[in-house]
Amino acid sequence: MVGGQWGDEGKGKIVDVLAEESDIIARYQGGANAGHTVHVGEEEFILHQIPSGILHPGKRCLMGNGVVLEPIQFFQEYDEAEARGISLEGRVGVSLRAHLLLPYHRLLDRAREGKSAQKIGTTGRGIGPAYEDKAGRRGVRVVDLLDEEEARNRLVEGRERARAKLAELGISDLGDVEECVETTLAVRERLLGLATDVGLEIYEGLKAGKEVLLEGAQGTALDLDHGTYPFVTSSITTAGGAASGSGIGPSSLHRVLGVMKAYTTRVGNGPLPSALPPEMDEKVRTLGAEFGATTGRPRRCGWFDGVLARYSARVNGFTGLAVTKLDVLDTLPEIFIATSYRTAEGEISEFPADTRSLETSEAVLERMPGWQASTAEVRKLEDLPRNARAYLDRIREITDTPIEMVGVGTRRNQIVHVA
Ligand code: IMO
Ligand code: MG
Repeated sequence: MVGGQWGDEGKGKIVDVLAEESDIIARYQGGANAGHTVHVGEEEFILHQIPSGILHPGKRCLMGNGVVLEPIQFFQEYDEAEARGISLEGRVGVSLRAHLLLPYHRLLDRAREGKSAQKIGTTGRGIGPAYEDKAGRRGVRVVDLLDEEEARNRLVEGRERARAKLAELGISDLGDVEECVETTLAVRERLLGLATDVGLEIYEGLKAGKEVLLEGAQGTALDLDHGTYPFVTSSITTAGGAASGSGIGPSSLHRVLGVMKAYTTRVGNGPLPSALPPEMDEKVRTLGAEFGATTGRPRRCGWFDGVLARYSARVNGFTGLAVTKLDVLDTLPEIFIATSYRTAEGEISEFPADTRSLETSEAVLERMPGWQASTAEVRKLEDLPRNARAYLDRIREITDTPIEMVGVGTRRNQIVHVA
């Protein structure tokens, strides 16, 4: 399951629905920059690191090698879930190969954003610096904690390296970075208690006929390679990353579900070609409660971007789509879909590599009549208003991908399964 836009597509809800028929749920990239909101009955859960699958009893939930794991917040999330009645004993595993995200990564992320002329608008969770250390071959992995002395040395090295970099950035108040060696070692045994070979576990699970769900975070337009660089996150969010980030071969993936909101949102900086004019932006943000689950920032809203959606379907090889939050559009008299971009160089219909050209481009919009009826109680495709079905048909046509599910509300049961 992969986000098809700029993140916040409603992946948490879709994982929650799919988890029911899965035995193992694994995350393969990203870290606490994700904010997956799931409503179960009257309760709301916002999960940042632990896979959303934990909300279904008995499912095994794994953090793959491709994630950057922040151990202290991870255990806070773990303990909070248990305090709310979710039993996690024996259910959570963490890859021995996963890299640790440490307090200095967070401080570096924030310090750089503070100083930079071109701000990315990151979530401030330390994601970029943690993946830099990984690619720079100086990261600390879960497996490195096995030997306590070795772990201490690596953590001290990391802290001192970060101290020097922070000094260059003019930051001398290190806050929680000072104690990070001790605070990390304090959770060492607990973390090692969850450590496993995730790839092997999934491989054996598949051999034994188990259903495995790989849960993507962020989205295609935030992918390090395929997104609107440099306004992206630092991991491979697209479907190809699901295999390498969980440690299985790509031939084991037989279904790639793209999750796309019925409109578009973006939080953080960078172009949003189908952006709504201010008044409409405000309206959709309110209707869709579009505020960041991780940072609380208001999300910018746009019409459904058909150019991005088609690109996304191609880059990920989507075999099906889940279109979420259709109900948010229920009251609108007319709805638009972006079908191409007008740039300084002319009209283009393929998502461009040149992010700057996107910044000055304008979306060419196709108008569709709204349905102006509530879809919240609909559970079958044929019961959706005719104009809503026409809207979904157009999305299917543009992406050349069948729609498998349509979300019509935040609750677990507010979903239309398309046979
Ligand atoms: P979920 O999983 C939406 C955005 C940030 C910023 C850029 C880089 O909930 O869909 P980072 O902290 O990753 O270095 O920030 O990516 N971003 C997200 N936007 N949903 C997310 O996760 C995001 N995770 C990161 O706003 O623009
Ligand atoms: Mg989010």
